[in-house]
Amino acid sequence: MQNKFLSNVWHPKSIIFAIVSLYLCDVTCQEKPFVTTPLGPLSGFYMKTREGRTIAAYTAIPYALPPVGDLRFKAPVPVDAWQGPLDATKESPKCVQRNPYTRQQEIVGQEDCLYLNIYTPVLDNDLAYESKLPVMVFIHGGGWMCGDSSTAMYGPQFLLDRDVILVVINYRLGPLGFLSTKDEHCPGNNGLKDQQEALRFIQKTIASFGGDKDSVTIFGESAGGASVHFHMLSKTSAGLFHKAISESGTALVPWAEAPPGEALRNAFRLAKFLDCPQAPSEKMLECLRTKDSYEIIDTEFRFYEWDYEPMTPFKAGVEPNLPGAFLTAPPRQPEVPAVPWLTGLNKDEGCLKSVWITSNKTKYEEFMSGFETIAPITFFYDNSPAADDITQTIRKYYMSGDENTAKKGILEIYSDSYFNYPALEAVELTLNYTQYPIYLYELQYRATNSFSQIFGDLEGDYGVCHADELMHLFPISFLNKPFSEEDIEFSKLLVTLWTNFATSGNPNEPQPVPFKWEPATSGEKMEYLEIKRNSRMSENLATRSRLWFSLPLWHNMRRRRYIDEL
Ligand SMILES: *[C@@H]1O[C@H](CO)[C@@H](O)[C@H](O)[C@H]1NC(C)=O
Ligand SMILES: *[C@@H]1O[C@H](CO)[C@@H](O)[C@H](O)[C@H]1NC(C)=O
Repeated sequence: MQNKFLSNVWHPKSIIFAIVSLYLCDVTCQEKPFVTTPLGPLSGFYMKTREGRTIAAYTAIPYALPPVGDLRFKAPVPVDAWQGPLDATKESPKCVQRNPYTRQQEIVGQEDCLYLNIYTPVLDNDLAYESKLPVMVFIHGGGWMCGDSSTAMYGPQFLLDRDVILVVINYRLGPLGFLSTKDEHCPGNNGLKDQQEALRFIQKTIASFGGDKDSVTIFGESAGGASVHFHMLSKTSAGLFHKAISESGTALVPWAEAPPGEALRNAFRLAKFLDCPQAPSEKMLECLRTKDSYEIIDTEFRFYEWDYEPMTPFKAGVEPNLPGAFLTAPPRQPEVPAVPWLTGLNKDEGCLKSVWITSNKTKYEEFMSGFETIAPITFFYDNSPAADDITQTIRKYYMSGDENTAKKGILEIYSDSYFNYPALEAVELTLNYTQYPIYLYELQYRATNSFSQIFGDLEGDYGVCHADELMHLFPISFLNKPFSEEDIEFSKLLVTLWTNFATSGNPNEPQPVPFKWEPATSGEKMEYLEIKRNSRMSENLATRSRLWFSLPLWHNMRRRRYIDEL
């Protein structure tokens, strides 16, 4: 074990070796870190944290067989043990994708993409082998359509100033990860099953990196946050992790769970676009397996009805109850015990979508004049029999007034419908059965940079945008305005809160923080931490969004009907 070996250099028992070593080199004198796992040996490379600690990095580690050929549209198959050292210094290949949030036109990545990265701090004391380190596993966002584990985006330089191990994983995207035929031939959720397979790989190997397999925290943002919540609801993920952080995304967001009928309808459409038979499903899949992966991802544009809407045509869903199923009951009917959960929102989530609309005069006018047809599509209620009523209600609630009010309203509708109201529902649901605390937050700190820079406007200030917390946890390379001193201080605070939670299940310890973050006690109170310059506790998280509980959305109606039937 590499950490243990390096620590032993300084251990009294190894004193002679230590003296020799002192003459020859310091801790990082070896060119490459090396580790031997039960599956095989790996050689990585060294990096440095923000505060100068040495990191042993191992990237592009395969955790499953390449999901190509006959394995396309199948659940991941665990990787076999390997002989000889694996070169863990390359960049993990991205899964095949096109980024709709940056309006990317070309398709990138490769189908052989089931890799992960592991980063461990090189500790110059005995900590590494006296106590195993907590493990943090990050699941990236991107609407299950794009994103990747790259070091340039999700590097360890901030988090590893604390005593944790970071793992960042890839998983299949778009129809390659989320196609479902609702039967045994392709039950669905393959992207989530990939994440689960990565968690199994971590159970098998993380001790070799100095990690504690009994202290695994999964954390993710947006679709990654939704993924985290889905793992909390999955019988087959139970036991593979012990704590969870969902940033700006839960399993109840309208873009994550397919409403009844949608999965099969979109599978049929995909088959049609690619000249494949729609039935029987075996024949459909057989044909789809002959197509180029780029051709499959290229159909995404054809699912959009206005601009890039609706997003995420291929979602998660309940599967037939077969061996290995990821999800066998609706997310609103949890079947497994919860784990300690930290979850929250950014103040102006909706900027993910609104900036493209409100910063472009033509698009804004198109949106306003077509609101009756566009709103039901982009806000995911076109399947409601009362769609027109919903349109009138939200127009009145958010958009009564001049152009500035309307533009602010567009931001707020996206914030509330895509993120806020589903977060409240998810917290209320979880409070009803969890044995553990739930810590809630709203990020209110506006930094020098913001993701609005890539969501449609390089310069405008749209508040605290969707994904803005990421830059405090990871050195996101494309956000290139220089950080202020205050930004850096804030980032260190967020790193402390997140790594504290991963260490103890409580963001207030072991590292001291200048306030007390209290868990939420009830759906009526919704106590949460306002994270900002002088963070403080508050009540009634995202209360404006409660309007959406009263709207005739498909899942609200199903719940009401279900209650009526009792
Ligand atoms: C503004 O929106 C129009 C209509 O959707 C689009 O054709 C145009 O490319 C957009 N302009 C910019 C600068 O994005
Ligand atoms: C939680 O339980 C309360 C009281 O039994 C109930 O009224 C409420 O609907 C439940 N919330 C959810 C989201 O299931």
